Amino acid sequence: MKNLDTGTGYETKPSTYIAALTEVGRGTPMGELMRRYWHPVGLASHATDTPREARVLGEDLVLFRDKSGRPGLVQTRCAHRGTSLFYGKVEEQGIRCCYHGWLFDTEGRCLEQPCEPEGGKLRDRVRQPWYPVQELYGLIFAYMGPPEKKPVLPRYECLEVLAPGEFIDADDTSIGSGGGAIAPCNWLQHFENVLDTYHVPILHGNFSGTQFTEVMNQMPKVKWDNTRHGVKAFSTRTLPDGKVMERTTEVVLPTLRVVPNPFVGGYGRVESIGWTLPIDDTHYRIYTAARVREKGLFLPKGAGAATNRKRWSDMSAEERREFPGDWEAQVGQGAITFHSDEHLATSDHGILMLRRMLNSQVNAVARGEDPVGVSFDPDAEPIVFEAGNFVVDAR
Ligand code: FES
Ligand SMILES: [Fe+2]
Repeated sequence: MKNLDTGTGYETKPSTYIAALTEVGRGTPMGELMRRYWHPVGLASHATDTPREARVLGEDLVLFRDKSGRPGLVQTRCAHRGTSLFYGKVEEQGIRCCYHGWLFDTEGRCLEQPCEPEGGKLRDRVRQPWYPVQELYGLIFAYMGPPEKKPVLPRYECLEVLAPGEFIDADDTSIGSGGGAIAPCNWLQHFENVLDTYHVPILHGNFSGTQFTEVMNQMPKVKWDNTRHGVKAFSTRTLPDGKVMERTTEVVLPTLRVVPNPFVGGYGRVESIGWTLPIDDTHYRIYTAARVREKGLFLPKGAGAATNRKRWSDMSAEERREFPGDWEAQVGQGAITFHSDEHLATSDHGILMLRRMLNSQVNAVARGEDPVGVSFDPDAEPIVFEAGNFVVDAR
């Protein structure tokens, strides 16, 4: 009998992904978990009297700021006959639809129907679907969940306690280490990457050239642990003087990446928070708020993507193939990666811990409980993270 080929593609089973952890539409398990938290939907500077499209958790929305200064977020399709409010005009009291001029305030109330007798006697019966928004850290946050479950908008110590000369700057241009503003793949691929500590010396230290620093190129020792509101990765690397760099990165539910600066220009507690916003099931983007001393964010613009110190946007397709970074690796996993085909190994322990935690919280919400990290106490203390880069003596 002739030796048969083994392991060929012909033997593989149909591929599947874990829908309960990846899909974010209303009514899906993860979509309902996501809708129990506030999410950034734009920079504060995006909310102006020019309407701006925002797609969030699979919903098409329009962000604006009325001429009285109130930010508003409404569903795109006008409640009258469905045209897009993106073409509307912003006024003192709200946004006016281009088609028949119905005027909606920031809470979706219909204030005028100019084509109707007496400006619309039944206009109070119409409500343009809207979401509550709040401004903080240079961002506009929206709550898209059940109104009776609306938590307070959390505050974070790393963005509240500033050293002299520091201020908060917000950014929406890139994933952490470079890439386009919108990544065409599922949000969880990015979120898991934060706990994928071992990819740093391979992807960022070898394939991309030295994308961060020489020390970050070292193969670290890593331990993962659950925290009160997420999972942390604790890694150590030896510095040239024999001391040890201890680095902690955290993921915090629902989507926060709490990652100290990988360029490690100095040591101390984490300088920024990145919110991984699921645009829909197959796109995400990152909003970042950081403590800075100079405008333009704490990361050198595009430096992470800039193998050969070129910005990601200036790299050719061939350069991106030759020097891939986070963008290429995560988008390369596919629109929604096939979990059925993975072979998770010991270095993926943090990813398993995160999936377990997300699963438990999806189930908690399905049982009618509140997920971790939501607070209804308006006087809640700012949340403190462990994340940071620190130097210690060799133990
Ligand atoms: S479709 Fe908006 S006013 Fe008619
Ligand atoms: Fe990375």
